[in-house]
Amino acid sequence: MAAMKITITKDESLPAPKKIKIRNIAQHIGERVEIHGWIHRLRLQKGHAFIILRDGTGFLQCVLTGEFANAYQTLTLTVESSLTVFGTISKLPEGKSAPGGVELIVDYYEVIGLAPSGKDSFTNKIQEDIDPNLLLDRRHLALRGETLSAVMKVRAAVLGSVRRFYQDEAITEVTPPCMVQTQVEGGSTLFKMSYYGEEAFLTQSSQLYLETCLPALGDVYCIQESFRAEKSHTRRHLSEYTHIEAEMAFISFEDLLDHIEKLIVKVVDVVMKDPVAGALVKQLNPGFVAPKLPFKRLQYVEALDWLNENGVQNEEGNPFKFGDDIAEAAERKMTDTIGVPILLTRFPVEIKSFYMKKCADDPRVTESVDLLMPTVGEITGGSMRISDKDELLEGFKREGIDPAGYYWFIDQRIYGTCAHGGYGLGTERILAWLCNRFTVKDCSLYPRFAGRCTP
Ligand code: 4AD
Repeated sequence: MAAMKITITKDESLPAPKKIKIRNIAQHIGERVEIHGWIHRLRLQKGHAFIILRDGTGFLQCVLTGEFANAYQTLTLTVESSLTVFGTISKLPEGKSAPGGVELIVDYYEVIGLAPSGKDSFTNKIQEDIDPNLLLDRRHLALRGETLSAVMKVRAAVLGSVRRFYQDEAITEVTPPCMVQTQVEGGSTLFKMSYYGEEAFLTQSSQLYLETCLPALGDVYCIQESFRAEKSHTRRHLSEYTHIEAEMAFISFEDLLDHIEKLIVKVVDVVMKDPVAGALVKQLNPGFVAPKLPFKRLQYVEALDWLNENGVQNEEGNPFKFGDDIAEAAERKMTDTIGVPILLTRFPVEIKSFYMKKCADDPRVTESVDLLMPTVGEITGGSMRISDKDELLEGFKREGIDPAGYYWFIDQRIYGTCAHGGYGLGTERILAWLCNRFTVKDCSLYPRFAGRCTP
């Protein structure tokens, strides 16, 4: 074919291009630019080639006409090939649509890396109907898709917004260790490891370390990976997740509840006002309505009444009674039915952790809170902490934990104890709620869960 012989040449007489990112195209209309990216979509037709180029900051329609469209190099282009394109940004003709309302009229381009065609083509590797397990094997490729990359962009905005919130509240960021020799949330989900021959664990929560920082730095937070050897497969449990945790000194339980709802409302507000992330949330979750203050507050015993009145049963298939854990399915049924965020408080001592402070007016229950969101359930767990050394030692005893390894944590109660409390927020869970994802796996870059540690 004659067209196949055409080669692409650079016109050196054109003005020197300005190297830009796609997100800035609107500022360069009429100018000659140079853009680097990957072919997201490709449409070849007689006399025209349309490339949707992606560079991580946006999408841009690139139009090749005449000899460029018919050249061998163009006819053999493939989706996911990387390119450098040169050309002039122009407003779209009336009645046409493309991302950003502009297109690039290409006057030259170079192929950096040609992706395979045929059976190894990107589209063959990433089919919509592919087995979810295979898709997880190809996570590195699946991440390039519009949905997963959008969730990851929202994730970055959420983490940025969380950091901004803490900065505004004068809460200092710290980085506790991930390799530890203490447990926080029960021995059954500990990942054990050999630390130069000594027994150690991957951290379940940085809470205990945050508590020790209070007298040194005041209120503190961290955004750190936490690890849980969760044996069961659920839509909201990962083996590794990004844990946002904060700890505050000289606060009351009411202060803690007020703080948690303020954090959620402010973080969502900042994300939704961000032109990129806000638009992505609306795209992923068109029905999303930002929550308003104050959140509904419900005590554990009131939740039991609700569950029993609504015919929801406990894990043994019986009506709920005091002391029962409200498991995932029941919790979600209640939260979805009520349909608004719920601060569920005052859980019984027996079903909560060793460090939780008992309520002064009812020692059967603790100053504890879970924040429940429709469609996901619990996204945050927190409590006031026991500030008295002897009471804390009783907690260790109740849970069968040897306090010896916790001397540094106990010292917090000896050297100037104070009322304090904090919480942990699961990044993937808040994202599952915000981005309307069925599972938290969609909200983690490379999800880890039982049976999956690759790629
Ligand atoms: O309720 P959790 O276990 O509480 C703690 O770890 C406290 N020590 C935190 C603190 O007070 N500093 O976990 C807190 C949150 C949960 O509400 C949930 O959002 C998330 O961490 N989470 C998980 N997310 C994904 N996969 C898992 N396996 C998770 N386990 C907890």
